[in-house]
Amino acid sequence: MGAGLRLVAAGAMLAATTAWGQAVEGRDLFTRADKGGCIACHQLPPGSGPVVRADVGPRLDAARLQGWDRARLRALLEDPTRANPGTVMPPYGRHRLLEAGEIERLVDFLHALR
Ligand code: HEC
Repeated sequence: MGAGLRLVAAGAMLAATTAWGQAVEGRDLFTRADKGGCIACHQLPPGSGPVVRADVGPRLDAARLQGWDRARLRALLEDPTRANPGTVMPPYGRHRLLEAGEIERLVDFLHALR
């Protein structure tokens, strides 16, 4: 295979990985310590992610997320200190811990839990 062809093949593989990746990415961003690391503080409903005993923040299930539309979720992830200056939840957007696109995928993930 010539170098050019190899490059095309690598590009096609990357595109396939990205399309597949989007479905699981919200959950990955939630669980990964080098991303949101949300499971350090929050539990998820059974079947939605790993089982953890974290209880610093509330368990994020449908009942809890009633009334949390996308805009409110986005605003919270951007900067939870706006709603509660004393919160221990990190300001993911304001401190650039996550990119805007990553916050959007977390909003998708949380919205789907409702
Ligand atoms: C260091 C602990 C901590 C981490 C890490 C954390 N949170 Fe929180 N979170 C909290 C606490 C505590 C609250 C309760 C509200 C407050 O403190 O103002 C909360 C509240 C929330 C709420 C609102 C639920 C409600 O009813 O109040 C959502 C949604 C949420 N967090 C999502 C996330 C997501 C998504 C992540 C990861 C990107 C995350 N949290 C990371 C501690 C944390």
